[in-house]
Amino acid sequence: MLLQAISQEVTIAWMVAMEIDLRKSVTLNNGVEMPRIGYGVYLITPGMTERCVHEALSVGYRSIDTAQCYGNEREVGIAVRKSGRPRNEVFITTKLWGCSGYRDTQQSIDASLQRLNLDYIDLLLIHEPTGDVPEIYKAMEDVCRTGKLRAIGVANFLDDAYLRLVEQAEIIPAVNQVETHVFRQQASLRKLMKSYGTQPEAWSPLAAGRNGFFTQPVLTEIARAHGKSVAQVGLRFLYQQDIIIIPKSTHIERMRENREIEDFVLTDEEMQRITLLDKGKSLFKWW
Ligand SMILES: NC(=O)c1ccc[n+]([C@@H]2O[C@H](COP(=O)([O-])OP(=O)(O)OC[C@H]3O[C@@H](n4cnc5c(N)ncnc54)[C@H](OP(=O)(O)O)[C@@H]3O)[C@@H](O)[C@H]2O)c1
Repeated sequence: MLLQAISQEVTIAWMVAMEIDLRKSVTLNNGVEMPRIGYGVYLITPGMTERCVHEALSVGYRSIDTAQCYGNEREVGIAVRKSGRPRNEVFITTKLWGCSGYRDTQQSIDASLQRLNLDYIDLLLIHEPTGDVPEIYKAMEDVCRTGKLRAIGVANFLDDAYLRLVEQAEIIPAVNQVETHVFRQQASLRKLMKSYGTQPEAWSPLAAGRNGFFTQPVLTEIARAHGKSVAQVGLRFLYQQDIIIIPKSTHIERMRENREIEDFVLTDEEMQRITLLDKGKSLFKWW
């Protein structure tokens, strides 16, 4: 009787844990689960990357966003291995840089795998729509079929570039990572991506602090009402719309803060007020 009760309790605890896990990830269009909150390592020097990724993993991040052009893939791989976490518990994204066609893309993927020192990459993105995109993407599709890539996608593919790609792709991009924050909300691109089954992911979800993000009056007022920070409100606004976020911080207390956005909900009215902050254009002038 006692054993039965214990076993029931264990099962319930397991189900609750599973439910939480499911809530914390999104299912990509090929069935792969990707965490909704990740940690970005752009502009983190190779010398700081191992410490930062170690700290990010220690406060609960399970998804790391790097790129060939960040110059820190090697250190990301070292930190993940040293953490002792099973490979399938950490989701690794990297991005191709400067590829021009089919063959150099295949070589470039192998070079990333070597630097990361991994057998597979969870998500590989084309960093920007340059080079012979159809050939680059075809190479990614072929490598994906071998199992070295669990999912493939793109970054910075705005309306036309995205449409051109999906119309010729055999594998619809699982993710499109684009500049997305309260000042550039990308509503129409997200609607288009949804119609094809591509998951939106926000780069610079804190606007990298630009345009007075951390002191913005509407965000400050809403943050005060919830006992939260401006960063948490800005991130929650994206999270609440099912956009994957990858905030970057080199400070462990901010890494922690940026993940603590699941214990409050923005009201419809608050969402509306933040929607009005959209300027509809880039703060970076890259894409
Ligand atoms: N695909 C692309 O083209 C592309 C382009 C840009 C970025 N990304 C990806 O997106 C990730 C995030 O974007 P991002 O790094 O540009 O900018 P971000 O995450 O929007 O903002 C990072 C900035 O905000 C500060 N910060 C972070 N958390 C904070 C908090 N709670 N309170 C106050 N300040 C805080 C950081 O400073 P501290 O470090 O000092 O805390 C840093 O200056 C990148 O790391 C990268 O992985 C991709």
